[in-house]
Amino acid sequence: MLQPSSILEEVQEHLPSMLAADAHELARQLQIHQTKIFAPTAQKTIRSFQPSEAAAFIGIGEGYLRQIAAEGHGPEPLANGRRLYSSEDMDRIRRVLDDKNGAAKYVPTRRPGEKLQVIAVMNFKGGSGKTTTSAHLAQYLALRGYRTLAIDLDPQASLSAMFGHQPELDVGEAETIYGAIRYESPRPVAEIVRATYTPNLHLIPGNLELMEFEHETPKAMLQARTEAMFFARIGEVLGDIESFYDVVVIDCPPQLGFLTMSALCAATSTLITIHPQMLDVMSMSQFLSMTSELMAVVERAGGRTSYDWMRYLVTRFEPNDGPQSQMTGFMRAIFGNRMLQHAMLKSTAVSDAGVTKQTLYEVERSQFTRGTYDRAMDSLTQVNSEIEALLRSVWGRK
Ligand SMILES: Nc1ncnc2c1ncn2[C@@H]1O[C@H](COP(=O)(O)OP(=O)(O)OP(=O)(O)O)[C@@H](O)[C@H]1O
Ligand SMILES: [Mg+2]
Repeated sequence: MLQPSSILEEVQEHLPSMLAADAHELARQLQIHQTKIFAPTAQKTIRSFQPSEAAAFIGIGEGYLRQIAAEGHGPEPLANGRRLYSSEDMDRIRRVLDDKNGAAKYVPTRRPGEKLQVIAVMNFKGGSGKTTTSAHLAQYLALRGYRTLAIDLDPQASLSAMFGHQPELDVGEAETIYGAIRYESPRPVAEIVRATYTPNLHLIPGNLELMEFEHETPKAMLQARTEAMFFARIGEVLGDIESFYDVVVIDCPPQLGFLTMSALCAATSTLITIHPQMLDVMSMSQFLSMTSELMAVVERAGGRTSYDWMRYLVTRFEPNDGPQSQMTGFMRAIFGNRMLQHAMLKSTAVSDAGVTKQTLYEVERSQFTRGTYDRAMDSLTQVNSEIEALLRSVWGRK
């Protein structure tokens, strides 16, 4: 029989190589699994929209859209006479409408005096819905016609994967925002930004190299280097490409490190996602007090700490779950109108789409029972419109 001590020794001796081998095999098997369910070569696209959906994205009535299409500005009708609208069609129709009106009304891009808005989506609680929220918000804004930049600040890079950029395969050295904010030979950020298959949406992808920022920043601070104001770096970099965008959405990692603090200092608004369960809410309370303490330090060093707005967003909400409803009511009583009025419902449409790294704007509606898809989409639209209204009010628009 093996002595307990000899078992221990064996583990200790081989742990590093064991972990390395496990990691390798896991990555390999996951890759195979992913390829089976969603071929990497499969073209990711935004789906086509029904006239009612397209009219809502453009911001006009369905009848008016029909008229514009009949005038030859819409897509060709299908064999059954119906028209389906791509995101390109919607962009084109916005421009046609503005030409007709002789005013910039339907193309919603920034006007003189309206500043770039940067939304940091955060919470150090893992799985609180940051990436799902960021991906759907960024695509929604792009579909509404805003020039949108999504930044994946999470070394796990789920947002990049969702937008079709595999962190291990498609993102090379210095191709994340780390390339532009690193202390040694930073690259121009314009070289790092990528277009996506969604018109109006660009991406700065992430991968493991983002971790370097957490390691390099303390070193740079010890050397008291003047460019070492770590919290200013993302903001500075965004300044270089500011004029190309209306809104930036930053998907933060589930930790309160230098990356998240830098995102907070670059942000003009923050969205804290929260799954309404006791443990998550308790951990959020810790997150809030830690953030507040860290921000006080950053403030003393000259960092930005005031925002146009901050909101809590309840995610994966199950209205029929008593404790969840109670927890949501509890938060509403404390946070008041700093909670978004609408919560994002838990839906198998969202989680199933997530398995194939897709959003609700990508999966075909016919894949789901109609009620399931529509309920999820309605909830998503309510949440995203509420955020859009906040953005517009910062610009002084209705
Ligand atoms: N509304 C929803 N309905 C159903 N499932 C959801 C919903 N929102 C998120 N999920 C699922 O919950 C899981 C966690 O979501 P997500 O990855 O967005 O969280 P996160 O905060 O970004 O996590 P991490 O902290 O690891 O970055 C995912 O599997 C996602 O598909
Ligand atoms: Mg995430």
